[in-house]
Amino acid sequence: MKINMIGTGYVGLVTGTCFAEFGHTVTCVDTNTQKIEDLKKGQIPIYEPGLDVLVKKNTTEARLHFTTDLAESIPDADAVFLAVGTPSSRRGDGYADLTYLYEAAKSIAQYLKGYTVVVDKSTVPVGTARQVRRIIAETNPQAEFNVASNPEFLREGAAINDFMRPDRVVIGVEDERAEELLREIYKPLYLRDTPIVCTTIESAELAKYAANAFLAVKISFINEIANVCEAVGANVTDIAKAIGMDGRIGNKFLHPGPGYGGSCFPKDTLALLRIVQEHGENVRIVEAAVEVNAAQKARMVKKIREALGGSIAGKKIGVFGLTFKPETDDMRDAPAITILPALLEKGAKIKAHDPKGMEEAKRYLPEEIEYVQNAYEAAENADCVVLMTEWNQYRALDLERIRNSMASPIFIDLRNVYEPDKMNQQGFTYTGVGTC
Ligand code: UGA
Repeated sequence: MKINMIGTGYVGLVTGTCFAEFGHTVTCVDTNTQKIEDLKKGQIPIYEPGLDVLVKKNTTEARLHFTTDLAESIPDADAVFLAVGTPSSRRGDGYADLTYLYEAAKSIAQYLKGYTVVVDKSTVPVGTARQVRRIIAETNPQAEFNVASNPEFLREGAAINDFMRPDRVVIGVEDERAEELLREIYKPLYLRDTPIVCTTIESAELAKYAANAFLAVKISFINEIANVCEAVGANVTDIAKAIGMDGRIGNKFLHPGPGYGGSCFPKDTLALLRIVQEHGENVRIVEAAVEVNAAQKARMVKKIREALGGSIAGKKIGVFGLTFKPETDDMRDAPAITILPALLEKGAKIKAHDPKGMEEAKRYLPEEIEYVQNAYEAAENADCVVLMTEWNQYRALDLERIRNSMASPIFIDLRNVYEPDKMNQQGFTYTGVGTC
């Protein structure tokens, strides 16, 4: 199959590369000349484990190409995937901004030749694929094409594995020919018994929002239960284990923390609320999840203040991890972006470390933060340390070294990486989230 991927952001680049790994011939197109030149040289603009190796392999084996020129490959393509960004609109009203997507649809329309399936890969409100169809038909009335929706369920940091071994693939189509073509593209997965959920375009579009909203609800739920645990003296880790073993509940996404972040949950929950409002309906449970998430971040600031004896002013705080989760350099909507400025405002001095995200963090965080080379430097002379992101390298720290170098051994673990009892035995004053 010949595939075009429009947009070489996170989703486009991972998806295009993995399709090439399946054996398809893939051309990734982007309007950013510098990015395309870098990709041609094997320089990857994001940190995603394993992606550089796959890009190199498939480029060398001539299955993966990069260009800025739509005319070069669109006419030959069997399928054109639209994977451009759909950020929250600049108006700040939560709506997804579809400008890039509609521009992309217009740009490709003139080059379509022979039967082509145009697939929305970006996360888009219900009804968008139909708008894409209208734009293409108006721009090029001769084009022979169908539109489809094929939402992605890739987690940053685990995207290659999620693509190669997904729980399911969702395709929304309006025509059998489009369905056949998409099934053919995903055939390598079908041979691995991956279920393919084939549905209408609207259902596929909504399924993506429903999946992310449900996971956000699950996280906010366990965060609230963690808060209850703190009030009643229970342990949320045990509770997550006890309820997660019930197959109806499932043990995933039951880790309490400083609130969910990233480029997906915060944006997609808000976009879902807007979509629902427009149709005169409610998803109050998602509204609550969004509110709980904001409150959770604020609660973390309070937790740090309490652990420091009630005042943050003049306190030296060492921060381990800044990104919204491990194995990524992505800082978008990371809890650190809310928590650290609040600490600085209250007079804290912060030394922070992150294995991959420090350059990116500088774009999001106030200048006063000092960035250091490792967790040990962050802990030196600190009045407390805050474990913000559960990178593997913070899981096996030399705790004695940390404790001895600190001004006072207060360890605030916002990801419950360490066990409270063991930390107390090690001489720390330890605070987790929902642990006792
Ligand atoms: C999420 C979904 O998991 C993917 O299925 C989806 O494709 C993707 O959004 C998307 O829409 O593109 P991602 O944002 O990369 O993926 O990261 P997650 O692993 O889902 O984590 C999101 C946030 O929730 C992180 O801040 C993480 O720390 C937090 N989280 C996750 C918790 O606080 N507790 C948990 O139990 C799980």
